[in-house]
Amino acid sequence: MIQSEQQRRAYLDALGIDVWLPRDQGEPRLDDQPAERAEAPADLPGWVDLEKAVSSCTQCALHQSRTQTVFGVGNRNADWLIVGEAPGAEEDRRGEPFVGRAGKLLDEMLKALGLDRNTVFIANILKCRPPNNRDPKQDEADACRSYLNRQIDLIKPKIILAVGRIAAQQLLGRDDPVGKLRGTVHRLDEIPVVVTYHPAYLLRSPSQKAKSWRDLCLAVAASEMRAR
Ligand code: URA
Repeated sequence: MIQSEQQRRAYLDALGIDVWLPRDQGEPRLDDQPAERAEAPADLPGWVDLEKAVSSCTQCALHQSRTQTVFGVGNRNADWLIVGEAPGAEEDRRGEPFVGRAGKLLDEMLKALGLDRNTVFIANILKCRPPNNRDPKQDEADACRSYLNRQIDLIKPKIILAVGRIAAQQLLGRDDPVGKLRGTVHRLDEIPVVVTYHPAYLLRSPSQKAKSWRDLCLAVAASEMRAR
């Protein structure tokens, strides 16, 4: 999966990340408070029904202002599931997650790992855009959660990468800041979850990109632990 060292260095250079070689980080630190999801209902939709249910969803007020739902995109058998916050204006217009400037950076980060948006699956906590890009409200996240849970069950990823505070807090049921949640391998029903900064934040604070690269390396290590 990892590309040649030369290619990876080229991508990291393009990202503006100082090139460094991961040292032996020892065994990844495991969170001792695994998150658990509520029991799933018995009658569970497959991909086709799930997509239909999302596209016609009216479970929260966001359906009134959306252009369209943003279901998620990529490989439905992916090892990597990337979870962001919610669609922005461009995503609401195009119906695909992470297609704006932050999405371009996410693509570059994935490329540095030898991945792209067709080999991973990318989804959000919310399937509809909150007006004016405000933070999701808890009742909206709750209303949308069963869709993401079902996506996780269908994909069975080896690793979930939570990008940004909202994704991390919602997935893990925690209210700590990203700075506290990153650097540890959390678990959601036994699936490793690694937290990193949101690419929109990295665009504003490029000096944090090196930390984000470390998070991606941790996610690689965690996904390989899961594969064993
Ligand atoms: N930010 C997100 O968290 N998700 C998107 O799909 C776009 C921007």
